[in-house]
Amino acid sequence: MSIQITLLLTTILTVVSAYTPTDHYLINCGTTTPTTDPNHRTFTADTSSPNFKPNPLSKSLQFHNPETNLTISPIYTSVRVSPYPKPLVYFFKVKEMGVKLVRLHFRKFEFGVKGIGCHDQFHVVANDYVLMYNFSIGDFSTVVVKDFMIWVDDVDEVVIKFIPLGKSSYAFVNAIEVISAPEDMLEEWSYNKDIRRKRGYEMLYRVNVGGVKVTPFNDSLWRTWSPDEGFFKSGGSDRKIHFDGRIQYRVGGASREVCPDNVYNSARVVESLGGEVVKDNMTWVFPVEKGFSYLVRLHFCDIASISVGMMFFNVYVNGNLVYENLDLSKVTDYLLASPFYADFVVDGEKFVDVMRVDIGPSSLSKAHAVDGILNGLEIWKMDNAMKSLGGEVCAGQLESSNQSGGQVSRLFSLTAAVCLLAIAFLVMRRKAEAKDSVGWSRVPSEIDLKSNYPKSTAV
Ligand SMILES: *[C@@H]1O[C@H](CO)[C@@H](O)[C@H](O)[C@H]1NC(C)=O
Ligand SMILES: *[C@@H]1O[C@H](CO)[C@@H](O)[C@H](O)[C@H]1NC(C)=O
Ligand SMILES: *[C@@H]1O[C@H](CO)[C@@H](O)[C@H](O)[C@H]1NC(C)=O
Ligand SMILES: *[C@@H]1O[C@H](CO)[C@@H](O)[C@H](O)[C@H]1NC(C)=O
Ligand SMILES: *[C@@H]1O[C@H](CO)[C@@H](O)[C@H](O)[C@H]1NC(C)=O
Repeated sequence: MSIQITLLLTTILTVVSAYTPTDHYLINCGTTTPTTDPNHRTFTADTSSPNFKPNPLSKSLQFHNPETNLTISPIYTSVRVSPYPKPLVYFFKVKEMGVKLVRLHFRKFEFGVKGIGCHDQFHVVANDYVLMYNFSIGDFSTVVVKDFMIWVDDVDEVVIKFIPLGKSSYAFVNAIEVISAPEDMLEEWSYNKDIRRKRGYEMLYRVNVGGVKVTPFNDSLWRTWSPDEGFFKSGGSDRKIHFDGRIQYRVGGASREVCPDNVYNSARVVESLGGEVVKDNMTWVFPVEKGFSYLVRLHFCDIASISVGMMFFNVYVNGNLVYENLDLSKVTDYLLASPFYADFVVDGEKFVDVMRVDIGPSSLSKAHAVDGILNGLEIWKMDNAMKSLGGEVCAGQLESSNQSGGQVSRLFSLTAAVCLLAIAFLVMRRKAEAKDSVGWSRVPSEIDLKSNYPKSTAV
């Protein structure tokens, strides 16, 4: 009887887990026909939908570059370009308020046309967030994908502007994705006690620990997860593991959209083999830019222990003990192979220019057991008080540097007001903060939140 119930529950969970975003725009820029990429996703031409349109004011150009290299996605063979001084503007009507994933694709090629400026250099603004400041891709044929999360909760559209920087520059983009994030992607509470607002995020690192690259085809939200080799520093006592069984997603626990099976089914572990607990950490180090705060999300799933209640370990972020004696069995309702994630915010303002994560044995660790595990890791840059992810400048300032036309100026006066407030706020915050030496904060609700949900597994 109890086995049947368990099976039934698992089946229901599997069916329910196919995620269908309410807002789901995939746009291929600079083309007139739909394009299907190697991950079987169809991108609509930017000229052919009533829901979005490039700003009619902008004298944009489109270029096509037939590609013989079949490993290059066809979304990178067309591009829309806007020479200075006109910005390139896209409007996306949204049906649902909340967090939107915004993914921008860039790959430039030789346009072979005179008079559009000699180099790409531009800012990217989405609603009142500055996503990219003074960006230039550099080399031809390099693919750059930028992933952002922004809150959309007082307007019914996402307006993305690509603003050329100066006289000899142009802005361009190859493809745009705007997708509703699943509800559990970001909690609404503010991470920082003194910043009561909804932050914008840029993904910097998304890593499948101890595993292979996970491509958008195998990810529930079409993300890419890289292997961790370039960031991992081994003390020598670690080992990579892989799990072939089923990952036990729990109702109310971390969902498949937060992180997919393909990430949870591989990991690195510290293991105590002899009669005593090994004295060694696993360490990951990621370069980051000073002056910003970062959200560090660690993904755990005990695919290594032979029974529950065996594994206890410590987690450190930038040398601070952020979890002591973490017991994965307890936080996953005593179920093995069940995912759990923890968020930490590291205040970057006075911090060094790396994020360092250490995982190692704790005082409760057992000899002859696994004494530490990590399956996946994400680092997101958080916007500053100007709602900017690059530079102390706000959207209004960038838009005003060269605009004309009623619609734009109306938008500007609104953003400018917000911007002035933000500047005042930044100054005050700096002052208030001077004596505060706490460099990290654990997101308060994680464990409480998950354990308040109905338990599906105590069958
Ligand atoms: C095709 O593109 C890939 C990178 O996307 C590159 O590694 C490979 O060398 C290219 N092949 C040719 C023949 O240019
Ligand atoms: C933009 O970046 C370039 C280097 O890529 C730098 O020389 C220039 O000063 C920057 N401009 C602004 C306005 O920040
Ligand atoms: C998807 O994942 C499966 C199993 O993990 C793997 O065999 C396959 O190559 C992956 N496909 C792509 C396109 O990455
Ligand atoms: C693990 O790393 C933390 C933080 O850097 C450090 O305090 C601790 O001593 C390390 N443990 C071992 C066994 O090296
Ligand atoms: C703004 O753009 C106009 C053309 O639309 C140009 O004549 C003017 O010089 C630009 N102003 C600035 C400050 O760049």
